[in-house]
Amino acid sequence: MSDLRAEAEALDGKDELAAKREEFVLDETVYLDGNSLGALPANVPGRLAEVMTHEWGELRIRSWSESGWWTAPERIGDRIAPLVGAAPGQIVVGDSTSVNVFKAVVAAVRIARDPGNPSGGRDEIVVDATTFPTDGYIAESAARLTGCRLIPVAPGDVPGVLGDRTAAVLLNHADYRTGRLHDLPGLTAAVHAAGAPVVWDLCHTAGALPVGLDEHGVDLAVGCTYKYLNGGPGSPAYLYVREALQPRFDSPLPGWNSHAEPFGMRAEFEAADGALRGRVGTPDILSMLALEASLDAWDGVSIDAVRAKSLALTDFFLRCVGAYVPTGRVESLTPAAHAERGSQVALRCEGAGDVMRRLIEQGVVGDFRAPDVLRFGFTPLYVSFGDAERAARILARTLA
Ligand SMILES: Cc1ncc(COP(=O)(O)O)c(C=O)c1O
Repeated sequence: MSDLRAEAEALDGKDELAAKREEFVLDETVYLDGNSLGALPANVPGRLAEVMTHEWGELRIRSWSESGWWTAPERIGDRIAPLVGAAPGQIVVGDSTSVNVFKAVVAAVRIARDPGNPSGGRDEIVVDATTFPTDGYIAESAARLTGCRLIPVAPGDVPGVLGDRTAAVLLNHADYRTGRLHDLPGLTAAVHAAGAPVVWDLCHTAGALPVGLDEHGVDLAVGCTYKYLNGGPGSPAYLYVREALQPRFDSPLPGWNSHAEPFGMRAEFEAADGALRGRVGTPDILSMLALEASLDAWDGVSIDAVRAKSLALTDFFLRCVGAYVPTGRVESLTPAAHAERGSQVALRCEGAGDVMRRLIEQGVVGDFRAPDVLRFGFTPLYVSFGDAERAARILARTLA
């Protein structure tokens, strides 16, 4: 056995999260795509069957109250909260990340221009120029709707463009292509120093590392639940609104679900109190309850332990790639510094699309991002050091 293979075995032997893998439906495949779609938690099919047969099939409409369907968005938000460092009452689950980006950015501009805020004529929205495209498209539309100018800049350059015209800033906690982790505490403080609110997109960090929303005074945040939170394909996203800002959160999508008295059927809108101002229409209950069941996997898990394993896995994978892959065939885009690394490794590689197709044929599933990036996501709840070693070995064979 090679030294690295033996080392992987030893690392797996002392991994305190190793037993978690049994809680997921996995096979021999090396699954390194949990940063796109998390694996299926084994308890979800049974829970969904119960929801279908009993809650929908037998109780029917009674389930909105008797099975807790109506309050699911806030209840499940409170289960996500500890994973992103938020106290209860600040997160609602529902809609897609894209829709929540829209709500958050427009609401942030309205907060910045609130008459109670001395920041009057703010007319610039700053957006991460390297963002996942949907955030950029929505920021551009939000800018047009609010009469703002859009300023796309790389996250590291954000402090240089902030000022008294800044109305809102939309940033990604981790870059979806390279896995680079951005400085959430530092950038949040810089945006606040300019008197503006910040919106963070947590899609690539929630469930992979500590986020510390409350600790760092983040104003608004959004994220998906189908990556490291394993909620299932198209599972609903979430919206965090800091408690102190909730009275000023003026949603651009006020629906009957965010009304103070939803069943009053009143013609005038009156916003509910709290995070449920972020709700819009009828929640997608089946997806939502699948997500709720999937969150059981986090019981007893410390996010610090997850982060420690994530860094150990990505370090080990990079070492294996360095040892096995012929020099010059791949270039790591993932920062070497832990403080700048999310939970994925991105390798630039000639013919990356074809290479990934061949890896998948050999049972190593990552993904390809145009034009030349191989992405490997490391989900600490179910990826082992043995997986990391095998993936690097098969990558080397494929490139040989
Ligand atoms: C950083 C980021 N933001 C937004 C999205 C899109 O989310 P949704 O499809 O839920 O709108 C993704 C999807 O992968 C993403 O990675």
